[in-house]
Amino acid sequence: MTATRLSVDGERLYESLRVLGDIGAYDADDGLRGVCRLALSAEDGEGRRHVVARMREAGLDVTVDRIGNVFGRRPGKDPSLAPVMIGSHIDSVATAGRFDGCLGVLGGLEVVATLNGAGRETLRPIVVAFFTEEEGARFGTDMLGSAVATGRIPLEHAYALQDRGGKVVREELAAIGFTGEASERLAPPHVYLECHIEQGPVLRAAGRDIGVVAGVQAICWHELTITGKSAHAGTTPMSIRADAGLAAARINVALREMTSCGRFGANLRATMGVIAPYPGLVNVVPGRVIASVDIRNPEDDILVRAEAEVVELYAEVAAAEHVAIDYRRTARTNRVRFDAKVQERVAAAATARGLSHESIVSGAGHDAQEMAAHCPAGMVFVPGEYDGISHNPREWSTREQCANGVNVLLDVALAFADEPPEAR
Ligand code: GLV
Ligand code: MN
Ligand code: MN
Repeated sequence: MTATRLSVDGERLYESLRVLGDIGAYDADDGLRGVCRLALSAEDGEGRRHVVARMREAGLDVTVDRIGNVFGRRPGKDPSLAPVMIGSHIDSVATAGRFDGCLGVLGGLEVVATLNGAGRETLRPIVVAFFTEEEGARFGTDMLGSAVATGRIPLEHAYALQDRGGKVVREELAAIGFTGEASERLAPPHVYLECHIEQGPVLRAAGRDIGVVAGVQAICWHELTITGKSAHAGTTPMSIRADAGLAAARINVALREMTSCGRFGANLRATMGVIAPYPGLVNVVPGRVIASVDIRNPEDDILVRAEAEVVELYAEVAAAEHVAIDYRRTARTNRVRFDAKVQERVAAAATARGLSHESIVSGAGHDAQEMAAHCPAGMVFVPGEYDGISHNPREWSTREQCANGVNVLLDVALAFADEPPEAR
């Protein structure tokens, strides 16, 4: 690289994260500010309008597709060439920080602002994108918008998904004014790039500036309905209870044992993030529990075995506790490997900027994994403070860490954006 290399404005990028993070902000414990911008909520609508306005200010041509994915296009010298796409998401879990997803989208806008400021044209167009319901925290299926855009999930299936209050994707999209007219089937870009916080402790503990993301681990989600019998807590003998809460607890403990028993290696992750008892009263045996199970592993075959054992577990617990356990698989993705050339370019860009880096497999799901089935794709990770905690208001990456990641994103985007058609 030469002395004329462009660099992003880290201060401007960080301020843009703060401003978007104020949309849907709430006061969390310990004096922290959290973010709650669940997909297709009023707060998500406000966040979307803010980012669209920023896209237009940057001169991007904005289109919205039928599942509400948003694309802002900067022209290239040859408009017939497939664009470089930079993206992520701006929806959040209900207890988020300000970085998850937003770094990728605002990082894309910062790349565009840097190119605009320098009057730098590219051969190919550059598109900054954000996808609908990446989190799956509201409608139960993660990477929803990118999975529809790449054809894995049919539009009508996505439209029909409901949140726990019975609100439907199709109507909620319309309610915030983001049912676009563009086809939901995205033409494959030349490459898809996503900069994201690591959301884990690895890079920070190793003292690395950049993660070269090799891929994403396999993910499986179940939604459980456990049905027992509500009864009086004081009068109902233990021997005749059908306690749905106890059944959920037994599943949770058994999942933890699966992660530590060694039969699934050392990397099985298992979480029951939802355990909602009904009627949820101190003196009533829970007659029903709605629960979720999230299991993940970097190896597909291990996740297949683990899921099979989890399903057997439901049957055993149902029989032992005299309850019925119904489950529905709400999400399932295989391990994804990112494009080798993207990984090489991320590593080379980091090295050229004097940034330390290492290869890392993502524990979290990302839109890039859907895009990887559609075009060459890859990711740049930046470290997080406080053990890389995420899905928590304490989630934090420093201005320098964010700027490093987006500088690498800029370099890699430019390398692909100036690439003629025969280069791949
Ligand atoms: C998305 O953040 C996920 O990995 O659950
Ligand atoms: Mn994310
Ligand atoms: Mn997330």
